[in-house]
Amino acid sequence: MNRPIRSFVLRQGRTTPAQQRALDELAPRYGIPFGEPIVSDKPLVLEIGSGMGETTLEIAKAHPEADFVAVEVHGPGVGSLLNRSETDGLKNLRLVRHDAVEVLERMVADGSLAAVHLFFPDPWPKKRHHKRRLVQPAFVSLLRQKLKVGGVLHVATDWPEYATWIEEAFAGWEKASRGFAERPTTKFEARGRKLGHPIRDLYFRNS
Ligand SMILES: C[S@@+](CC[C@H](N)C(=O)[O-])C[C@H]1O[C@@H](n2cnc3c(N)ncnc32)[C@H](O)[C@@H]1O
Repeated sequence: MNRPIRSFVLRQGRTTPAQQRALDELAPRYGIPFGEPIVSDKPLVLEIGSGMGETTLEIAKAHPEADFVAVEVHGPGVGSLLNRSETDGLKNLRLVRHDAVEVLERMVADGSLAAVHLFFPDPWPKKRHHKRRLVQPAFVSLLRQKLKVGGVLHVATDWPEYATWIEEAFAGWEKASRGFAERPTTKFEARGRKLGHPIRDLYFRNS
């Protein structure tokens, strides 16, 4: 069978009892099942690879005027974000536990996104793994199709060579100086900084 090349490898990882409870009990309330259309009458922001969701939560809190959808494949991260979202009583955040490329293709209407957030995508540094990078020509076209005209893609990376790769991939897009929201710092970013990695935020507008 022809298996697609994915941008992630699903590690089992440890799911804590609290995360498992969230996956069982909160996902039916705050999750969107794969395949269901994502609709909103507010500006709609999709985050790809929300990880543990610290950034997602802060941004959703700071922007009650918008609706946020976090897409992540990693169960413990989804469980953790579900828990925090409930504790904080967030009304404008939903989660999808699935491959973001398929979510974009199947669940998001064309021209419907105000912004896409892609914070610290796995850089897949080895050359033979570059094909696993999320940013590929087909992904760039998919974003062009799903973002509104004027919508912005905000990417952050601590991997300079991936930053260059991304700039080349979006060379045909208008560069913007800011995104939909200020990006708060995550633990992941702090680790990058500690290792001396420069952090880059890149903004591209679908003009
Ligand atoms: C390096 S982590 C960064 C997490 C988070 N954005 C942060 O800044 O802390 C990348 C995340 O993207 C997720 N991911 C990678 N490819 C994905 C895809 N195609 N769909 C959904 N999530 C994906 C991984 O599971 C992982 O949690």
